Parts: sequence; C-alpha cells; structure tokens
Amino acid sequence: PADIFPGRANSRGFDLRDLTTLDEIEAARTPFASHRWQAAPILAVATAPVEAVERVNPARPDDIVGTVRDASFADAQTAIAHATTWNAPVAERSAVLLRAADLMEGAFGEIFALLTREAGKTLIDGVAELREAVDFLRYYAGQAVEGMAPAGIFACISPWNFPLAIFCGQISAALAVGNGVLAKPAEQSPLIGALAVRLLHQAGVPRAVLQFLPGAGSVVGAALSSDARIGGVCFTGSTATAMRINRAMADGMAPDAPLIAETGGLNAMIVDSTALPEQAVRDIVMSSFQSAGQRCSALRVLYVQQDVAPAFLRMLEGTMDEQVTGDPWNLSTDIGPVIDDAARRKIEAHVARAEAEGRLRKRLSKPASGTFTSAALIEVSGIEALEEEIFGPVLHVATFHARDLDRVVDVINARGYGLTFGMHSRIDDRVEQVCARLEVGNIYINRNQIGAIVGSQPFGGEGLSGTGPKAGGPHYLPRFTATAKAHEPQ
Ligand code: NAD
Ligand code: ALA
Repeated sequence: PADIFPGRANSRGFDLRDLTTLDEIEAARTPFASHRWQAAPILAVATAPVEAVERVNPARPDDIVGTVRDASFADAQTAIAHATTWNAPVAERSAVLLRAADLMEGAFGEIFALLTREAGKTLIDGVAELREAVDFLRYYAGQAVEGMAPAGIFACISPWNFPLAIFCGQISAALAVGNGVLAKPAEQSPLIGALAVRLLHQAGVPRAVLQFLPGAGSVVGAALSSDARIGGVCFTGSTATAMRINRAMADGMAPDAPLIAETGGLNAMIVDSTALPEQAVRDIVMSSFQSAGQRCSALRVLYVQQDVAPAFLRMLEGTMDEQVTGDPWNLSTDIGPVIDDAARRKIEAHVARAEAEGRLRKRLSKPASGTFTSAALIEVSGIEALEEEIFGPVLHVATFHARDLDRVVDVINARGYGLTFGMHSRIDDRVEQVCARLEVGNIYINRNQIGAIVGSQPFGGEGLSGTGPKAGGPHYLPRFTATAKAHEPQ
C-alpha cells in the first residue's frame, strides 16, 4: 500500500542549519576544489592492480576528479571466495555503524566537494544526500536486534544518482544484521563509493566483511549476481537491469536467495482547478528539475485540469525561466549537468523528436561545455505516450477534463510503474478517492514529489518500480536475514 506524505518531516540526522553556516561549508569544501581522489578494489586479499582511468567532472571537462582502477571478473571471484559474515554481537555492529555516521558527518566538506565534482550535485542536493546516508546508517543500526541471523554474503549494487545515500543504505542494512557485503558502485561514481568504504572500515567494519568492487555492471555486477555463493542481492537502478539480474539469479543462485530491487518510475502528478497555482508551480519545478531530473522519484508527466491549464502553464513556463543551469559548484545554480555524455545524448534525442513533432513547449539555455542538457517542457497526450523513463530535466504535460479524472488514474495504473505520485488539490474527498485507486509506493499531497525521510517516510515502489520492502522503513532489515529466505518478497 502507498505511504502518503502530506507534509514534510525532519531528518533524524544532522540539519545543515544546526551543523554549520554557509561560510563554514565553503571553508570546509574549498581545500577539495581541486583535490584528486582514487578508487580501486578494496578486497580481503591483494590482487594485481590494473591501469587507472581518469574521472572527469561532468560540469567541467578540464577538471580531473581522480582515478579509478576497476575490479575484474577475477577480482569478483577472489572477493566472493574470501568474503565472511560479520560475527560480532549486534551491539558492536550497531556501534560501528553509528561511528561511521559520525565520521561521514565529520567529513562533510570533502563529501560535498566530491558529490559536486564527481556526480554533478548542487550543494542543496549534497546536503540532502549526506543527511540521508547518515540517517540510513543510524536507522538500520537502531533496527538491528538479537536473533536476526544473516542471509550470508550480500551483493549490493547501486546507482550513480544517489552515490552516497543509496550506496550506504544498502550496505548498512546488510551489515546491521551481520551479512558480509560485496559493494559495487555505479561506473559513474566509484570515488564517492571508495570514500564511504574507507570511512566504514575506519569505523571498524572488518575488511573481509565489506569489500569494494568498482567496475562494469556487465562484468562485476553480473559476476556478483549469478554466483551460487552469494546469499542475496540488493539492487537499485533501472528496471531493465533488475530484470537482467533476476534472470541471472534464477540461473545461478539458490532459489531462496532474496532479490531486493528498487527500480525506475514514470511518475505522474495531477493538478486540479482548486490547486493553489503558486504552490503547485513551485513544487512542480522542484520535482521535475532539481537534481537535473535525475531522481527515481522525479515528476515526469504532469496532468493539469483543462479549465486552468492555459494560465497555469504560463506561470510554469515563467518559473522555469528563473531556473539557472550551470556549474553545480556555484551556489546560484539550480540545475547541474546530467551524469555523462551518453545520458545527455539520450535526453537530447528525446527532446529533438518532440521538437520535430511540434510538441516542445519550452527549452531553457545551458552552458556550452560539460554534459549539460536544456531543461524542457513537452506536450504529450498522457503517460501512455512515453515508452520509458527519461532520466533528466524533461517534464511532459497533458491536460484532462474534470469528468475524466478516473480515466487518468486508470491510465497511470495501466502504464505499470508504481513509484511516486503527486496531487495538488484542495478537495480532500477527491484526493482520497484518487489515492485509494492509485497503485504506487509513495504519494505526495500538495507538496513536491521528491525525497523521503528515513524512518518516517519509507520509500519504494511496486509493479515495474520495485520488489519492496521500502527502504528506510521497518520491513527492510528483515529481508536481509536468513528467515526472509523462507518467504516470498513483500
Ligand atoms: P543502471 O541499472 O544502469 O545501473 C545500476 C547498477 O547496476 C550499476 O552499479 C551498474 O553497474 C549495475 N549493473 C549494470 N548492469 C548489470 C548487470 N548485468 N548485472 C548486475 N549489475 C549491473 O542504473 P543507473 O543508470 O545507475 O541508475 C538510474 C536508474 O536507477 C533509474 O532508472 C532510476 O529511476 C533508478 N533508481 C531507482 C531508485 C529507487 O529507489 N527506486 C533510486 C535511485 C535510482
Ligand atoms: N531517494 C529518493 C529521492 O529523493 C527518495 O528521490
């Protein structure tokens, strides 16, 4: 069933305003403005190093952020062979995870700098990301109890769009119940993953319990998700990759090995004629364009009631004009780059098709160099017109007649994804009626539709958007235990 988020909740971790001032943040991240980080496999035993490859800032092609030595198929085999579960008492494991959370908070300057330079995150996104990462560490540390037996060795395979928060969330859940972990970051964000693993080891996680395997999904990810010695897979990424992993696990792993998969979405929002336009427009812009639209939760298809659509869309376009696309290191930037050139080309091809068909309503300007793409507003007949998730700053808009509201809900459900949904309306009965019928994991009412607070807003989808259980909620940790193996996914 959907969790409904009627308002905002506070993070259980640190709050930027409590922790420090903007001047202090500037002072802490400035030493890392041209620092170079390194990532390489961190295994229980040494293996032969491969050649290092440079990682470049997506906003600035001349900024080398560091180097990465990818793990090979042989490294993955070595890691699996030497992996061990964490046989310390639960109180000790929890204390180590809490220490790791403290170390991460303490490293905030370095982390904000790296999140910006490797992953293109603005400072606002960086703060939310670090906050979510430490929330996960503290929440799962607190959820672990005696009697939870580990499932074994977990492969944790994560995406680049939350390279610290999701990376740490998966790992800390698996570790909290004593599993061994083989952590595979996305190809685009190995440096952040390496920093997080170094801090977890520094906090006291044994090296054989947590091994780090940067590398290609098709090589390292595939090796980890098809090996009979792996006890379970925790994956966040695209729906297509989750399906590939599901097939590989069926071929190579024990039938009871759990797959926890959090995947993509085609998320819709309905704005009716009673919505407060200024509030709705602000929330739509945030939901579609913050993080350059690279959030699983991001709004992709906006349905506006016909009666108010012309004036509403004029206001939306005017607000889009206020958005600044540029280097995320600058505090005035709203929209940073997309993660790499492949992502940029895919998004631009989609926008170009819409333009050729006369459906492009608006496109913003963007810097000439770096992997930037213009934020765009595209007309569509409805969610059914989209073949797949477009993972960037592109909002699609459709209109509906008030009498067709039920049909809009049917069409959204029929599309098969089920991650987030937003609604702006001042008619409570109508909101309840729509929410009761929608098959999605998380519903956001009269607010933006991105983000979730660990511990109070569990996050996860259904249908093509994930297997559950929801991350940051009470059902998550039990799925990493041996007893979960006896049950079907929730
Ligand atoms: P992706 O599927 O391309 O990659 C995710 C991870 O899977 C990477 O580490 C990659 O190397 C690995 N991988 C790729 N092929 C593999 C294979 N054959 N076997 C095993 N592992 C393999 O996704 P991405 O581009 O990194 O992330 C963006 C996607 O993630 C979007 O679809 C987004 O909606 C989704 N996402 C979902 C959530 C959620 O909570 N539901 C959160 C964040 C991102
Ligand atoms: N991590 C998800 C997002 O913020 C909830 O979009």
